Amino acid sequence: VPKEFQAMKDAHELLRKFYHHLLVNTKEGQHALEYLYGRGFSQESIDKFQIGYSLASWDFVVKFLSKRNFIPEWMEKAGLIIQRERDGTYFDRFRDRIMFPIFDRNGSTIAFSGRSLGGEDPKYLNSPETAIFNKSKILYNYHQAKSSIKKLQYAVLFEGFADVIAADRAGIENGIATMGTSLTDEHIALLRQSVQSIVICYDSDNAGVQAAYRSGNLLQDAGFELKVAMMPDGMDPDEYIKKYGPEKFRHEVIDASLTWMGFKFLYFRRGKNLQNEGDRLNYIEEIIKEISKLPMAVERDHYLRQLAAEFSLSLDALKQQQKEFYFAEK
Ligand code: UTP
Ligand code: MN
Ligand code: MN
Ligand code: MN
Ligand code: MN
Repeated sequence: VPKEFQAMKDAHELLRKFYHHLLVNTKEGQHALEYLYGRGFSQESIDKFQIGYSLASWDFVVKFLSKRNFIPEWMEKAGLIIQRERDGTYFDRFRDRIMFPIFDRNGSTIAFSGRSLGGEDPKYLNSPETAIFNKSKILYNYHQAKSSIKKLQYAVLFEGFADVIAADRAGIENGIATMGTSLTDEHIALLRQSVQSIVICYDSDNAGVQAAYRSGNLLQDAGFELKVAMMPDGMDPDEYIKKYGPEKFRHEVIDASLTWMGFKFLYFRRGKNLQNEGDRLNYIEEIIKEISKLPMAVERDHYLRQLAAEFSLSLDALKQQQKEFYFAEK
């Protein structure tokens, strides 16, 4: 069995190098390279993240691997090729896509995610779960980010590969991302080994904000110190950096990240019209409930004062309400 796993990794390793070569040095890869340049990817990032290109061929990988004596059944189990039911022949899983290699924490290539160049679905095609690749355990870029994470004592958690890569270009080298799945307990366990503070920097669209709330609660419960970085107009980090540049991203997004409580103030406000009395009362109740969850009395006091000031409410009334929630929680 270990021999099988080694062969799977070896095949990924070879393909990673070849895909990269195709992207950077060949005519076939030129349109893909131009696409990446057009999006603001630098040559340096393309090398650092070993980005590649898979040919628009049905059997390039099948031939490439069989020429090197890889056993097709194993390569199918590795997710690189797929068997046709009709006649038992094989075809390539990834065709005409920008290839992002996925590394394990030791830097072995264990999977790929391929982005379509046109509008084809899915936008990102990932390797399936295999004996060497478990999505719920892998954080994209963890193997490269880990030294920077340890040095800076925090990690920035992004939603997508493009965001990690754009942020890296902007000098944020402690960025990681999940692979299109929600954050799991296994991801959290992995993070715990190296860090206590996380800045969540998900897309600022509706889905991203919802996901940030979910991940934030999990990380909060796991004892991490948390911040949440947001961008205007529903942008994602990669779009923001392309539009406003690295400097502005570092200072006005990362350095300006909200506290977890500050984020929740915004979160509960979404979709509410605070001029409307019902919405306003609802909002105040939700925030008081959140305040009741805070462990320290000084913190609870701080946010109650903030709330009282904002809505011209009496602090005593808020405190009374908060105590009721606080004891209801115990
Ligand atoms: P997004 O839709 O936000 O993509 O999905 P993105 O990262 O901004 O991608 P670009 O900028 O258009 O290239 C966030 C992440 O969700 C996963 C990928 O990991 C992606 O980075 N995803 C998304 C998939 O796995 N499959 C998909 O079809 C789409
Ligand atoms: Mn190179
Ligand atoms: Mn998104
Ligand atoms: Mn995005
Ligand atoms: Mn994007």
